[in-house]
Amino acid sequence: MPRDRRDYYYHKARKEGYRSRAAYKLKQISERFDLIHKGSTVVDLGAAPGGWCQVAQELSGGKVVGVDLLSIKEIEGVETIKGDIRLDTTIETIRGLIKKEGADVVLCDAAPNLSGSWSYDHGRSIDLASSALMCAKKILKPGGGFAVKVFQGDMFPDFLRTVKGVFEKVQAFSPEASRKASAEIYVIGKNLINDAVTLDQVYTVTIEDMGADGDGIAKINDLVVFIKRAKKGETLKIRIREIKTKFAFGDII
Ligand SMILES: C[S@@+](CC[C@H](N)C(=O)[O-])C[C@H]1O[C@@H](n2cnc3c(N)ncnc32)[C@H](O)[C@@H]1O
Repeated sequence: MPRDRRDYYYHKARKEGYRSRAAYKLKQISERFDLIHKGSTVVDLGAAPGGWCQVAQELSGGKVVGVDLLSIKEIEGVETIKGDIRLDTTIETIRGLIKKEGADVVLCDAAPNLSGSWSYDHGRSIDLASSALMCAKKILKPGGGFAVKVFQGDMFPDFLRTVKGVFEKVQAFSPEASRKASAEIYVIGKNLINDAVTLDQVYTVTIEDMGADGDGIAKINDLVVFIKRAKKGETLKIRIREIKTKFAFGDII
């Protein structure tokens, strides 16, 4: 292991033609979570100077769109947008570039300019990560994947919980290529879940049927919800405990 990982990845990036040492973070994230596949449509938010776009293009060979406040120098096979990821108009421009069925993966390595105040920088990072999550919800295909950078701080657990309401599998991950002293962490979400219901939300439902293992079955916005100890014909208040791509679980309250 080289003595200084920063120098190691910096020199490696220069030698291998990547625009940033961050390129190796995406390689490590994608390898660990099997995120970007051949043919994947990938949207990269906060993409300049373009290291992640280069890696996404190599891994997918499909459509890759990079978005940043700054211009991104041309990369073969990558389309770029100069815009603010917090704005709806930028999301609309992205939509215009990807296929109607949406993106397979949304990435976000966006970072605010650091002020030196930990809590201020943390807040702005959470704001950017939340915008990336909103964008992901709007443009991902059902089952799509997400990876976003966040600077750690007291709002991190809430953000993680929010992401858990949007994707079936969610994990925080620190790639080897992140600097040891860095406050950054990546949140990876796999399998965008159905947005017919909201995690922890209370609904009044009528049990329409019984499942094979004795759970009551209700439908909310056409999504099947399994409810333990519920009987056919009952009308109940339930709270959504878990959401999967094609169904959800609720508990009687
Ligand atoms: C760490 S760099 C990204 C590095 C990139 N992943 C790479 O490998 O080359 C963070 C980027 O986020 C961008 N950024 C910050 N706020 C943004 C916003 N609101 N909209 C778009 N891009 C933003 C910055 O301009 C900066 O280029």
